[in-house]
Amino acid sequence: MVKVQWYPGHMEKARREMTEKLKVVDMIIELRDARIPMASANPLLKSMAQGKPRLVILAKRDMADPSQTAAFEKALAKEYGSCMSLDLMHDAKCKGKIVRASIALMKEKRDKQLSRGIRPRAVRAMAVGIPNVGKSTMINRIAGKNTLIAQDRPGVTRSLTWLRADSDLELLDTPGVLWPKFDDEKTGALLAAYGSINDDIFDVKMVAMDAIHEIQDLYPGLLEGMFDADGANPNQMLKKIAEKRLLIGANGQPDAKRAAETFLHDLRKGRIGRLTLERPNAA
Ligand code: G4P
Repeated sequence: MVKVQWYPGHMEKARREMTEKLKVVDMIIELRDARIPMASANPLLKSMAQGKPRLVILAKRDMADPSQTAAFEKALAKEYGSCMSLDLMHDAKCKGKIVRASIALMKEKRDKQLSRGIRPRAVRAMAVGIPNVGKSTMINRIAGKNTLIAQDRPGVTRSLTWLRADSDLELLDTPGVLWPKFDDEKTGALLAAYGSINDDIFDVKMVAMDAIHEIQDLYPGLLEGMFDADGANPNQMLKKIAEKRLLIGANGQPDAKRAAETFLHDLRKGRIGRLTLERPNAA
């Protein structure tokens, strides 16, 4: 399996930043990749969520296996209170869905305020997510340009940037990069396969072979059919992909490295099919 390093220094910085920001928000919006809903979980939240309500959004649902997405939504809603899957690229209604789900999550608190005659202020949420899960896309969708909120108001720290998504939802921008951390090699392999870890720190062939192995296990016959590769192991599969894509090296042999790069590119873009490489019952 692929070995990937993570950087404690970055992690520490992200941890400090998150601790500060958590103090001023009502809730957390956690972005995950619907194709790897567990591996793409935010590693810091486990120890740091401070009991804040959490809305888990499984982004890229258009590229994930619909039946697995439904199963994960159910399992994660049970675990965290609220979970939904979204196609952040094409769903015109995603802003409304996120605003409504966020307000629903804070309903009890808001109802209490109303019963005491207090008009609830907008819900303040912090968006978090490891790289490449769709966080910037979501922020742009729900709080596009020109939505910066002026900072001169009580109770709002000056150094933080707030975006207005809606009259009832404000978003704390979190520019800090949150590096993924993983306790097991499989998580690292999945994060690498889907591009949440920089391509330059791992062996691309290993990553592709790990991904091929997982796909062969969870979607038997799919790659074999696609690349005319009955009975091929991951290494042989790369050669078959090279042949099929006419990726031949200077020595006249199939170029497995370029095949691995092409395969991972296609996998990330959803061109291998709507796949989910984890299963909820293992959560
Ligand atoms: P990040 O801030 O969490 O790092 O992620 P970002 O929003 O930049 O999204 C990463 C890529 O995923 C982008 O593609 C974005 O368009 C795509 N993306 C985000 N959400 C969805 C979704 O729900 N469905 C689909 N199909 N794509 C989504 P990109 O700009 O082409 O980047 P890359 O693929 O070249 O890295």
